[in-house]
Amino acid sequence: MTEVLKDRVAVVTGAGQGIGRSIAERFAKEGAHVAVVDINEELTNETTKIITDAGGSAIAVVCDVSSREAVNAAAAKTVEQFGPISILVSNAGVTRPAMLWKMTDEQFDLVHDVHVKGSFYWLQAVTPAMREARAGNIIFTTSGAGLIGSVGQINYSVAKAGLLGMTRSAARELAPYNIVVNAVAPAAATPMTETIRTDERFKEKYLEGIPMNRWAEPDEIAGTYVYLAGPDCSYLTGQCLSVDGGRTMVR
Ligand SMILES: NC(=O)c1ccc[n+]([C@@H]2O[C@H](COP(=O)([O-])OP(=O)(O)OC[C@H]3O[C@@H](n4cnc5c(N)ncnc54)[C@H](O)[C@@H]3O)[C@@H](O)[C@H]2O)c1
Repeated sequence: MTEVLKDRVAVVTGAGQGIGRSIAERFAKEGAHVAVVDINEELTNETTKIITDAGGSAIAVVCDVSSREAVNAAAAKTVEQFGPISILVSNAGVTRPAMLWKMTDEQFDLVHDVHVKGSFYWLQAVTPAMREARAGNIIFTTSGAGLIGSVGQINYSVAKAGLLGMTRSAARELAPYNIVVNAVAPAAATPMTETIRTDERFKEKYLEGIPMNRWAEPDEIAGTYVYLAGPDCSYLTGQCLSVDGGRTMVR
């Protein structure tokens, strides 16, 4: 098997479980050195062990992405261990659902800080070295909620739409340095989607909206990130790929 990410240094945030874990595992299988970044120490160690037990290269980096100091320290630890970062996957995420008339400032701010500020801090942490190298692949995990909205998740929709703006602006600013910036809007069976997948009030209705009429396994999402992080993605930038069974296709 060809290792399309051989010896690349990749940061994957939110890699403790779900989609991030699948991405980290796939990147390592493709030959990358992976910084497994997550706020949850136990999950961070678990993902790292899965990768290293399989013969891959990874380090566990516990980090709350909503703290600039923590992000800078995590980036420094990665560089010290593996060298300059050439792939960033900003994927860490949380939800705090509530109808807009009940949503608190705390719910709004937490979701904004993790998704938007966390991605921005990482973007600023990795781009100086990428600009110097005149190479780099940056991928943000957005959501269908950022494209078509979502009931009971106005905070999350705003944050994910914000990441689309970040993708496009960063793509424009970094294109002269040969750095590509893209986004993925996934839909997968992970702990984050457990309620809408299992609660009788939501599950049928949600599935009806997915033309493929099923949820993806996180592994089905990870391949898109391999493409966006790899050598074949040299001329695609500022785009969002929806890996969602057709849920958000133009109707
Ligand atoms: N699963 C889906 O269908 C779906 C749909 C659209 C978008 N997404 C997005 O995909 C990404 C991954 O989601 P998932 O479904 O794998 O979720 P998940 O809840 O399974 O995993 C999210 C991970 O992020 C980590 N995390 C949370 N806050 C953090 C912080 N402050 N700092 C560092 N790590 C933190 C968690 O510990 C967890 O390991 C998220 O950005 C999510 O919004 C998921």
